[in-house]
Amino acid sequence: TALMASATLHADKPGATIDRRIFSQFAEHLGYGIYGGLWVGPGSKIPNTRGYRNDVVAALKALAVPLVRWPGGCFADEYHWREGIGPRNQRPTKINTHWGGVTEPNSFGTHEFMDFAELIGAEAYVSGNVGNGTPAEMAEWVEYMTAPAGTLADERAKNGRKQPWKLPYVGIGNELWGCGGNMRAEYAADVTRRYATFVKSPRGTKILKIASGANSRDYDWTDVMMRVAGKSIDGVGLHYYTHPTRGKVKGSATDFTETDYARTLVSTMVMEELLAKHGAIMDKYDPEKRVNLAVDEWGIWTDVEPGTNPGFLYQQNSMRDAIIAALNINLFARHADRVRMTNIAQMINVLQAMILTKDDKMVLTPTYHVFEMYKPFQDATFLPLDLKSPWYNKDQWTVPAVSAAAARSKAGQVYISLTNTDPNRSATVTAKLEGVQAASVDGRILTAPDIQSHNDFGSPDVVRPVAFGGATVSPDGLSVTLPPHSVVVLALH
Ligand code: AHR
Repeated sequence: TALMASATLHADKPGATIDRRIFSQFAEHLGYGIYGGLWVGPGSKIPNTRGYRNDVVAALKALAVPLVRWPGGCFADEYHWREGIGPRNQRPTKINTHWGGVTEPNSFGTHEFMDFAELIGAEAYVSGNVGNGTPAEMAEWVEYMTAPAGTLADERAKNGRKQPWKLPYVGIGNELWGCGGNMRAEYAADVTRRYATFVKSPRGTKILKIASGANSRDYDWTDVMMRVAGKSIDGVGLHYYTHPTRGKVKGSATDFTETDYARTLVSTMVMEELLAKHGAIMDKYDPEKRVNLAVDEWGIWTDVEPGTNPGFLYQQNSMRDAIIAALNINLFARHADRVRMTNIAQMINVLQAMILTKDDKMVLTPTYHVFEMYKPFQDATFLPLDLKSPWYNKDQWTVPAVSAAAARSKAGQVYISLTNTDPNRSATVTAKLEGVQAASVDGRILTAPDIQSHNDFGSPDVVRPVAFGGATVSPDGLSVTLPPHSVVVLALH
């Protein structure tokens, strides 16, 4: 029997703008995230534009990626930007001590990243080195990227870029409580004030500064950062990963049981508590919500694929990942008044990736498709949707069966996304529509034979969105039947 859920859409009570940067990405010098995944170099046999893979660039353009965070992650607090400029064959190399112990060739540096962001039409969010770099090094990097004139601007021009780049966001280090320097919150907040002081916005521009945020439930970190450094920053980060299990063995990306699945979704839904509690702490110090809660790392972290370098964090991506992405996005949308940027970890070949590559082949993951289906939500206005959902549970693991988000696009179109987490039962949602007239409805669905279904190089289209015919509108409202484990995005007409 189908599950039954009821809802009321309040199109008459619009909320905050769902900042398009909620759909941002994160690309670190880690495994095949940059090298091989994005950058193959101009001499490669793999079709490329100035070194960037054509297939990947086209896929990212189609996704309308709003912003990319780079170069880390843990890598950022050991990165010295000067090693990544100038003629590529003269750049120093070194060991990537965090990730796999492989040689970092530095052939992808500031110019390669900033040009890439421009190529795909995304904004840049560059994380500076606080861990083992100086305030001067960070200040000079920012000056190199953004100054209209001066010695560093001349050096930039000599290296091929006359015009300053746009740099809307700078990260003041990464995970300062851990790989960024093992700092205590009080110390990190002082250091943040100090480094932020020297990040200067050239006349007529504004560089927003994002402080390194809490790990998961470390509410004290957010409290201290906001109290001590709140006035020096424009955003504070938050990192939270979905873990199928706790401990050394994280669990496989594709070989999992239904119990593992339910347990993983419970782990994902912790994000609801995190957004509420970190947000409430920020409200104490910043009731106007000037400071952004930037969830600048999130996603599912599983064991690596068997036989791959454990330091490369290469994992497959299944229908479970699609559900996880949708659940998180719906939560971010609900907190859009405070959460104005999030960066899924990571863009290509690392953790919950949009894209997997192998030599000259590319696969779009179920997560990619969710981000693509949610494109109409970028910069749309949040519309409250009161939803009474039944529960889905397996053993002791319980989550709502239906998750939803609604928004009105700038063009005035109302969109509703609905996810059924239950892998066994369909869910029928009946919704009253207040403040919107609808004569018809259409949309797309992402589902698959199993929660473990995934796309691979030999079978790239197992999980992909198709037209959805399971929704109808009448004078009574909207009625939708969601198949098991599915993500649907509807447009009302
Ligand atoms: O995304 C992988 C790593 O996870 C990042 O480098 C770090 O910030 C976090 O611990």
